[in-house]
Amino acid sequence: MLIDTHQRIHNYLRISLTDACNFRCFYCMPEEEVEVTPQSKLMSADEILAIAKTFVSLGVNKIRLTGGEPLVRKDFADIVLSLAKLPVKLTLTTNGVLLNRYTDLLQEAGIHSVNVSLDTLNPYKFLALTKRDQFAQVKQNIDTLINKGFSVKVNVVTLKGINTQEINDFVEWTREAPVHVRFIEFMPFDRNQWNAEKVFTYHQILEVIREQYDCIKLPDAQHDTTKKYMVTGHVGTFAVISTMTAPFCSSCNRLRLTADGKMKNCLFSKTESDLLSAYRRGEDLEPLIRENLALKEKGLGGQLLPDFTQIDTTELANRSMISIGG
Ligand code: 5AD
Ligand code: SF4
Repeated sequence: MLIDTHQRIHNYLRISLTDACNFRCFYCMPEEEVEVTPQSKLMSADEILAIAKTFVSLGVNKIRLTGGEPLVRKDFADIVLSLAKLPVKLTLTTNGVLLNRYTDLLQEAGIHSVNVSLDTLNPYKFLALTKRDQFAQVKQNIDTLINKGFSVKVNVVTLKGINTQEINDFVEWTREAPVHVRFIEFMPFDRNQWNAEKVFTYHQILEVIREQYDCIKLPDAQHDTTKKYMVTGHVGTFAVISTMTAPFCSSCNRLRLTADGKMKNCLFSKTESDLLSAYRRGEDLEPLIRENLALKEKGLGGQLLPDFTQIDTTELANRSMISIGG
């Protein structure tokens, strides 16, 4: 088992398949074009499987594939089908634009639950946020997945003044569709234009929703990062991921592997362990994994302050979200 110094059992690994993306969301990647990692430095499909197997032997039983955008990997199908053979619950986070190519594959691999990032229901705003005119395709892909019986969670990064006017449009979507909308508080990463003024808090989100709807709190599972709710009579649900104002670190069970094979014990950790290079040298990964886990801080990588308005972004040491993996 992978237990850290704060007695948290880690059974959930998030693997980034690539730091490339076909969208350009400002809150995720630096504005200036950043070079994507050359293929030789990324984990190959075989390396992903081998490293994942080590984690599984240490107690990991849930794996989420992320990116960048995981579906831009040419060998995505090989990766999914090989990981699907492991005794894990396999899931996926995607921007959704290529999902139409992969629906059958996901079914074949036993992936029933997919998280799709979608920050607006307005095609023009979608273009402004992602720099790509693909709203219709993403929305259609989500609808198709729902119709085919997948459980779809829609991630909405809630940015004050940019999409906060649409919070109740997203909630309205849950009236007829069994969709699970998750509003995510805006988090700071390397050069992502974060400042405290742009954060729209859990409390503020609920206030906006309660002005229009009667909603009830749903129970949260032990390791949930979300605070779940539903509007009375709606078939879908909504939730808030309150990283900035009410973090959920005390029950954290997650580990991360970047596309270039570095282990991170937290989204906000400063330290990384180069598992891929060690694997290529033929070394045993277990001691490295345990060493990295032992350094896991109690909360938010030891970097973010409990009062988010006091965070000084110039002092943060981290990658951009796109190169960590969401
Ligand atoms: N703050 C909050 N959420 C973010 N994501 C990417 N960058 C940020 C950020 N700065 C979201 C993506 C994706 C999820 C994994 O994380 O939209 O849905
Ligand atoms: Fe791509 Fe997702 Fe980052 Fe947007 S948030 S740039 S879709 S990885």
